[in-house]
Amino acid sequence: MPTLAIIGAQWGDEGKGKITDYLAENADAVVRFQGGNNAGHTIIIGENTFKLHTLPSGILRKGKLAIIGNGVVINMADMTEEAKQLTDAGMTLDCLRISDRAHVIMNYHKKLDGAEESRRGKVAVGTTKKGIGPAYQDKIARCGFRAGDLLESDLIKEKAGVLLPMKNELLDMYGGERCGCTVDKMCGMFETWNESFGRYICDTSVLINDMIDEGKNILFEGAQGSMLDVDHGTYPYVTSSSTVGGGICSGSGIAPNRIKEVVGCLKAYTTRVGEGPFVTELFGEEGAYLQDKGGEFGTTTGRGRRCGWLDLVVARYSARLSGITHWAITKLDVLNGYEEIKVCVAYEIDGEILKHFPASIRKLERAKPVYETLKGWKDMADYDGSYRSLPLEAKEYLRFIEESTGVPVGIISIGPERSQTVDVYKKWWPAQEQ
Ligand code: GDP
Ligand code: IMO
Ligand code: MG
Repeated sequence: MPTLAIIGAQWGDEGKGKITDYLAENADAVVRFQGGNNAGHTIIIGENTFKLHTLPSGILRKGKLAIIGNGVVINMADMTEEAKQLTDAGMTLDCLRISDRAHVIMNYHKKLDGAEESRRGKVAVGTTKKGIGPAYQDKIARCGFRAGDLLESDLIKEKAGVLLPMKNELLDMYGGERCGCTVDKMCGMFETWNESFGRYICDTSVLINDMIDEGKNILFEGAQGSMLDVDHGTYPYVTSSSTVGGGICSGSGIAPNRIKEVVGCLKAYTTRVGEGPFVTELFGEEGAYLQDKGGEFGTTTGRGRRCGWLDLVVARYSARLSGITHWAITKLDVLNGYEEIKVCVAYEIDGEILKHFPASIRKLERAKPVYETLKGWKDMADYDGSYRSLPLEAKEYLRFIEESTGVPVGIISIGPERSQTVDVYKKWWPAQEQ
């Protein structure tokens, strides 16, 4: 089965965009299946830096379909800006396809996100304030707008007449600013979005399944990471979608037995944006050093990312949740220069050693990392593109990850550029296996 998925194995920002772009070279389509423009995937191609939020990273590779699946929530106005970034660089949107079942993020969702966060006070999640949570709330509550509605103006008018006052009442309740939109204005906005994107809207589940039947190579691009999954992550400090492998099926309309390989994108250390427990977090100078060295500032919000050592309790948990078949270890170059590198192999909670990630947020707050210390390396300068030329200690580090997680390393990333990628597995697609 020519399908391959990329899943973030930590708290997001693992370098999924770069790995997706790398693997997209031999793909026929790249599919986003969850999340929205809370995602920020930075891809550097030569002189150009692209920051993608809703558009699948495959859109940067000529001739590949870029599919936004039904599980995604779309801010059409923001996507218009994002698309401009590409058309300004001489690319076209001809390869874009948008599921008619994908939900639309409205302005009132953004306002509600802000108002809910303020009301939560001490227990605020630290969201991106893009309206992601409220948009998914409406989807589950069965009162959302879908991309397919763009094509049916009478439906928009009917729904807007009911939903706009409802949302303003909610905003009043939370003490938030009302949504100034009127039903007519809203219909106008949908009309504009229809002009921009209407021609790309279709039944993407049919499209993806047909492509798989024809033996085409399909790449699924995850957003966020396993630890932000609404069920399995550090709840309530999570996002509002299913970021694990299972989300691919519901979010793109394919069956579980149609996914062949699952690449877990694992940064060589750990970062997290926003609130919530983070067992291996480094504070003070140590944290600031890693943040600076890794350039750890959010693509979407510009917020500084909290930084810490690699957590293999998290990696093992992610591997279990998504059936990860290979790791893509990213940002290994950032660890260059350390005398010693620590890796968390278990947690100590109330005197007990735990190897599995607990559900309790209180327990996680009390968890102390159990570290193993590995030798660092100083010189990646002799690297010539091969695994062989990596420093011995870096190879030991990778071997340690493989042995502790039971998952082989398939890709090693040692810089943001396409060329700074060591492809160990090389057999991602059927044609490469021959
Ligand atoms: P994503 O959300 O998982 O796609 O990750 P982000 O794009 O938000 O953050 C990853 C950042 O690291 C981006 O700025 C990438 O250009 C950069 N990056 C990706 N891989 C590597 C790598 O191997 N080494 C270095 N130094 N930077 C990388
Ligand atoms: P990519 O795809 C890192 C975090 C937010 C916040 C929590 C909930 O670039 O890896 P939300 O706005 O989703 O309701 O916020 O989730 N978050 C991310 N952190 N990378 C992301 O995406 C994220 N998307 C959401 O910071 O803590
Ligand atoms: Mg990101």
